[in-house]
Amino acid sequence: MRTPRDDIQEVLIDQQAIAKKVAELGQAISRDYEGKDLLVVGVLKGAYVFLADLLRNMNISPGIDFVAIQSYTQSTESSGVVRVLKDLDESAEGRHILIVEDIVDTGLTLTYLVDNMKTRKAASVKVCALLDKPERRKVDVEIDYKGFEVPDKFVVGYGLDYAQKYRELPFVGVLKPEIYGGESGSS
Ligand code: IMP
Ligand code: MG
Repeated sequence: MRTPRDDIQEVLIDQQAIAKKVAELGQAISRDYEGKDLLVVGVLKGAYVFLADLLRNMNISPGIDFVAIQSYTQSTESSGVVRVLKDLDESAEGRHILIVEDIVDTGLTLTYLVDNMKTRKAASVKVCALLDKPERRKVDVEIDYKGFEVPDKFVVGYGLDYAQKYRELPFVGVLKPEIYGGESGSS
């Protein structure tokens, strides 16, 4: 049987390395937000796998909410213009917000989100991202809790998709070129 694993050319970050890093991030976040009213905001869909594991590595009990946004884009390039598909259910006012993202690429999505959260009078707004692709950055964005830097390659797995597939893979890897035709198809 051909499985999604067969479409992977190279594993960049294996399951063990992810687990170790996520545990460290969970501990750091728990320490920093102890006794504070924290609302963790996951960015759908890519961040949900990371967020679920991150949460299980915390020893505080934050509120959890999600946003879903879509960037208006013709190709793989983000335009910076985003549309909110799902907004927060909870109020952000007076609370400490931690945005959890799968990957920071151009930085446009995150810049929009951080600004958006700040307009809601949050007590603070910080960012936790599993992956950082610094070579692609168009706008400067501060990542307060960062997992790994990745090269300028399209990556999938551990929540990240190509055309809505490969999110189930327990590692982060690069697709074989015959599968990845150059379009991101991500969300
Ligand atoms: P940015 O606005 O360019 O930083 O876009 C970030 C979003 O694009 C991420 O939340 C991902 O959903 C998506 N993205 C960027 N690079 C990749 C990748 O290599 N694999 C999968 N999704 C990606
Ligand atoms: Mg995303």
